[in-house]
Amino acid sequence: MTYQLCYASQAKLASETRLQDLRDILSEARDFNVKLKIKGVSCYADSCFFQCLEGEQDSVFKLIE
Ligand SMILES: Cc1cc2nc3c(=O)[nH]c(=O)nc-3n(C[C@H](O)[C@H](O)[C@H](O)COP(=O)(O)O)c2cc1C
Repeated sequence: MTYQLCYASQAKLASETRLQDLRDILSEARDFNVKLKIKGVSCYADSCFFQCLEGEQDSVFKLIE
């Protein structure tokens, strides 16, 4: 059964490293999420993230861990 997780969070990224931090997250997410067959969407604006993740429940829990 497909499991979906949506959440919003407040980022604490330092402005000096923010762009690189976002690139690092994207790079790791692309790799890990493809391996676990997780799909999703992430938005970042005004220091807040909104992300929806979808996949097998075990996989989504593994990502949360
Ligand atoms: C808002 C947000 C979304 C993330 N989404 C994913 C994701 O979809 N897939 C993934 O593998 N990691 C995701 N990560 C995890 C990051 O790639 C990284 O592993 C995590 O921020 C820990 O980094 P650190 O070990 O440098 O502190 C996300 C992190 C954040 C903050």
